[in-house]
Amino acid sequence: MATWTDRMSVGIDEVDAQHRTLLDLVSDTEAAVEAGVARKEAARYLQRLCDYVVEHFATEESLMDPDAYPEYDRHMAEHMECTNLALDFLQSMNEGKDVDMPAFLEFASKWIEDHILGTDQTLGRFVAGKS
Ligand SMILES: [Fe+2]
Repeated sequence: MATWTDRMSVGIDEVDAQHRTLLDLVSDTEAAVEAGVARKEAARYLQRLCDYVVEHFATEESLMDPDAYPEYDRHMAEHMECTNLALDFLQSMNEGKDVDMPAFLEFASKWIEDHILGTDQTLGRFVAGKS
């Protein structure tokens, strides 16, 4: 499970704070699943996580200038991919399909960590360069 480290900082306080919250929500969800909560409760945790992901991506996207930020297309595509994967998984859960929640959370945790350490750093540099 990914936890916050200083090298994850993108140098934008609001984004860093949201990243910490995002990682906390993933670990809260993992803890709930490990504790064996009912499927309905696990789905509630996941819904909360998905809602926060959408809100967080909107914050980052509001900082991007499509004409000036060189990683705009890639960054938007990664956000879209993550949102779709999360919403598809949530839908499968809500439809009562057989899903592997621990595997999904491990994947999501790694995805978020890689994204923060990679693509989000390019946004931090872009925003720093503007000021
Ligand atoms: Fe991002």
